[in-house]
Amino acid sequence: MRHEKEDPVVLSGLDIGTRKVSIVVTEKDHVSSDFQIIAMESIRSRGIGRGEIVDKDLAVESIRKVIEIAENNSDFHVSDAILSIGPSAVETFTTEHTFRYREEGAPERPVTSADMREVIRKTIGRAKEANEDFLIHAFPMAYSVDSGSEVRDPRGFKGSEISVRLLLVALPVQTVQDIIHCAEKAGLNIVGIVHKSLSSALGSLTDDEMKHGAVAVDIGAGTTSLAFFRDGSVQDIAIFPAGGNQITNDIAELMEIPCSNAEHLKREVSLNEDPDDLGDELEFQMDGEPFVTTVQDVLDIVLPRIEEIILRFVKPAIEGNYSRNDRRIVVFSGGVSRTPGFEDFLHDCFDEPVRVAEPVNAQSLPPHVRGKEFTSTAGIVQYIMEKENHPDLYIQPSLGEKINAPGYDAGQNILILDPGKRSVPGSRKRGKSFIGRFFDALKNAFRELF
Ligand SMILES: Nc1ncnc2c1ncn2[C@@H]1O[C@H](COP(=O)(O)OP(=O)(O)OP(=O)(O)O)[C@@H](O)[C@H]1O
Ligand SMILES: [Mg+2]
Repeated sequence: MRHEKEDPVVLSGLDIGTRKVSIVVTEKDHVSSDFQIIAMESIRSRGIGRGEIVDKDLAVESIRKVIEIAENNSDFHVSDAILSIGPSAVETFTTEHTFRYREEGAPERPVTSADMREVIRKTIGRAKEANEDFLIHAFPMAYSVDSGSEVRDPRGFKGSEISVRLLLVALPVQTVQDIIHCAEKAGLNIVGIVHKSLSSALGSLTDDEMKHGAVAVDIGAGTTSLAFFRDGSVQDIAIFPAGGNQITNDIAELMEIPCSNAEHLKREVSLNEDPDDLGDELEFQMDGEPFVTTVQDVLDIVLPRIEEIILRFVKPAIEGNYSRNDRRIVVFSGGVSRTPGFEDFLHDCFDEPVRVAEPVNAQSLPPHVRGKEFTSTAGIVQYIMEKENHPDLYIQPSLGEKINAPGYDAGQNILILDPGKRSVPGSRKRGKSFIGRFFDALKNAFRELF
């Protein structure tokens, strides 16, 4: 039955994954201002490869289908949506600018929230002038007043000039446009975009973990994403074009069997298999004939691929981002983390604390979508709430120019450069973050392997 509330504010999150496309439908509670989950559905995606659109028609069809299921189950019309996307062509870099915030000749005065917003707006403006990519996220990392030491919150500091250091996350414009176009063709009105690494982190890390230092690693079908948190905020993100599909494809190719059978075999073996069980036979029918293999044979294919992802890419990426003395926990999610024995395997690989996560808001989700592969979908709801509560920390620099979002409070959440105002002198520093350069090297190594 349709809910009879006056003017319901319904906002959805669409997670476009390589294997599944999932939607979470929320309604804003007018009293608490929280977003309540009213439906969440997921189906097998088609037309998506390694987080990118490879066949537009198939992708649109998948998105349409999952919307239809969610609408039927919730009795709400789904329109405004935030997308969670994970193309691997992501780049991160930091940029820093200094601007005068005090009028010439006026007495020194403390920095206000309005000054902070203004310096962010201008810094993003400069970044856009220098960068043709789609800036999907901007995270303020630190401020300083009159070249003093860096602080997270400069309000109250007295001076004349304010600097901000921003972490920017960029994607090729065409890649983002293709995804937005498919979602819009399927009937959605896109009001926000979040990178999979961030939605997955927000959907898997506790507040304490984000505060004390954590890395969220989501190993999906086509991509492995990482988001690094320290002092409660994002330090960097990264993504590799590798995931569970490669494991399935390896089994299919080496055993000369269809992918559907390979997928089935993959889920039958555990990474900490009892040595006594390694000789156990696994059997299925192929073309009317029995196909027989052993646990050992399947494991010999699965294990090296998982080791490759964890030991060659994830672990070095973490070591490159944090010093040995940093306190941190590594939290895994995504479909591949459902592999039997995965958590024990991780404990053998890492010296630091490590765990495998289900969505943080799992109790609010329908039982069929509470699994570890849904952190990025469920995390869109966390993202919506974070953006509501901290609009100055979760900024979407390029979105205002690309979307038509009537009724959405663009002024508050999306900062767009006013091209008329460029008179304030500023200094510019731009450089790929350390981890950005590091990942480029890793990605190149990765391309050679897969
Ligand atoms: N029980 C399991 N054992 C082993 N692998 C599994 C299991 N369940 C799911 N997977 C694997 O997880 C992958 C799907 O993960 P997930 O649903 O997180 O991907 P996705 O979100 O669609 O992709 P991506 O985020 O990479 O674009 C598939 O490769 C699938 O084979
Ligand atoms: Mg995913």
